[in-house]
Amino acid sequence: MARSLSFSCTACGAGHGKWSGRCDACGAWNTITEEAPLSPGPAKTALGARRGVRIPLGDLATEEAPPPRTRSGIDELDRVLGGGLVPASAILVGGDPGIGKSTLLLQAAASFAQAGLKAIYVSGEEASAQVRMRARRLGLGKAPVRLAAETNLRNILTTLEEERPDIAIIDSIQTMWADNVDSAPGSVAQVRAAAHELTTFAKRRGLSVVLVGHVTKEGQIAGPRVIEHMVDTVLYFEGERGHQFRILRAVKNRFGPADEIGVFEMTGKGLAQVHNPSALFLSERDTPAPGSVVFAGIEGTRPVLCEFQALVAPSPHAQARRSVVGWDGGRLAMILAVLEARCAVPFAGFDVYLNVAGGMKISEPAADLAVAAALLSARESSALPSDAVVFGEISLSGALRPVSQAESRLKEAQKLGFSRAIVPAGTRTGAQAGPELNAIPDLAGVVGRFFGARKPR
Ligand code: TYD
Ligand code: MG
Repeated sequence: MARSLSFSCTACGAGHGKWSGRCDACGAWNTITEEAPLSPGPAKTALGARRGVRIPLGDLATEEAPPPRTRSGIDELDRVLGGGLVPASAILVGGDPGIGKSTLLLQAAASFAQAGLKAIYVSGEEASAQVRMRARRLGLGKAPVRLAAETNLRNILTTLEEERPDIAIIDSIQTMWADNVDSAPGSVAQVRAAAHELTTFAKRRGLSVVLVGHVTKEGQIAGPRVIEHMVDTVLYFEGERGHQFRILRAVKNRFGPADEIGVFEMTGKGLAQVHNPSALFLSERDTPAPGSVVFAGIEGTRPVLCEFQALVAPSPHAQARRSVVGWDGGRLAMILAVLEARCAVPFAGFDVYLNVAGGMKISEPAADLAVAAALLSARESSALPSDAVVFGEISLSGALRPVSQAESRLKEAQKLGFSRAIVPAGTRTGAQAGPELNAIPDLAGVVGRFFGARKPR
C-alpha cells in the first residue's frame, strides 16, 4: 500500500515521504512543507470489489458544434482566451503579487457583466469596500458585478449554487479555505482541494470560474503550478514592477492556441489595452546605438517587434559576468560559444549583459540571430543600420536556419517603417513587396557583412 505522504512541495505539489531541502520533482529549493494528508485513512474497499456503472462510449467522427463564446469586449483578453469566454470553463490567472491581477479581473468582470453575463467577484484578500473603491477609481462603479468578501469555500459554493452566475472570479485561490481539509489556507492540500471543488462545481453547474493564483518564490504558500493541470486555461500575468507594460500570456488553453499574448499598460485608471505592442516596445528606442537590435518575433498568432540590447565590457573580475534579462541564459551561452568557435570573435575577459527592452520575455529560437547581432554590435561598437530588423535561428555549426512565419514578421516590420531585414538564406517570403532582404547563409557571413571581415578559425 502507498505510504501516506506528509510533506509536499509548494511549487509543484509533489508529495514526499520526508522533508528535504530540494524537491526532486521540480528542482525548487526550500519549498517542501509538512502537511496533513488530503484524505486521511486507507480506502475502505478495494476499487474492483464493487461493481461500477457502465460508461457510454462515443466515437471520434461525431461532429460537435464549437463552444459558444462570450467576448468581454477587451480584445487583448478575448484573444488570449482563444476568442472569448467558454461556458463551464476553469481559468487560472497566475502572477506575482502586486502585478495587477485583481485590477485586470475586476475590469474583466465588469466587461463580461456589461456584455450580459451574470458576474460574481469574490475577494478573499480585500474587504468589499476596498474593491468598491477600486472599481470607482477604474470608472466601473456602475457595472452590474455582484461582490462578496469571503474565504470560506462552503459558503461560496452555496452562494454560487443559489445565485447561478455565468462567471465567478475567486481572488485568490490561496486565501480560500475548505473546512473539510485539515491544513492552513495557502497550503498545497487546501489550494488543491479548493481548486478541485471549484472546477468540478463549474463543470457540473455550467458556470465559468476564474481562479487568481499568486506566484510565490518563498515557498510559504502554494503557487499556481500546483493546480495548473486541473483547469482548462492557464494565463500568466507578467511584467516588471518598474515598467508599466503588462503581458497576459496563455501557457495552456484547451479552447484556443497557447502562447497567445495580450498586452496592457498600467495607468492611473487601471489597465489600458495596447493594440500595437510593437510600436510600444520600440517607442523608447534611441537613435541607432551599438548593441541595439530590433527582433521581429511572433507571440502566439501575432507578430511583435521588440528590441534586444547588449553591453559588452572588459571584465574586472577573474570570472567574467554573463547577465541576461528576458531571454534564456543557456541559449546566450550557446550563441557566445558559436561566435567564438565559428566566427573567431572572442568574448573571454568581457562581461556580457543582454536585455529585452520593455520587460518583454522572449523564448523563440528565432531570436538567436538578433541576440548574436546585438552581441557583435556591442562588442565591435558598431551599430546595425537603424532601418533593419533581424530574425533567424543559429545552429551549433554557425549556419543560419530559416524560421516559421517569416511573412508575418516582415509585414509587421514594414508596417513599422523598417525597410531592411537580415534573415537566414532560404527564408521563404510571399510575392508582395516587403522590406529588402539581406539573406545570409551563416553567422560568419553576418560578421563579414556588418562588422568587418574576420578570418574563421
Ligand atoms: P493589483 O491588481 O492589486 O495586483 P495583484 O492583484 O496582482 O496583487 O494591482 C496592484 C498595483 O496596481 C498597485 O501597485 C497599484 C497599481 N494600480 C495602478 O497603477 N492603477 C490602478 O488604477 C490600480 C487599480 C492599481
Ligand atoms: Mg490582488
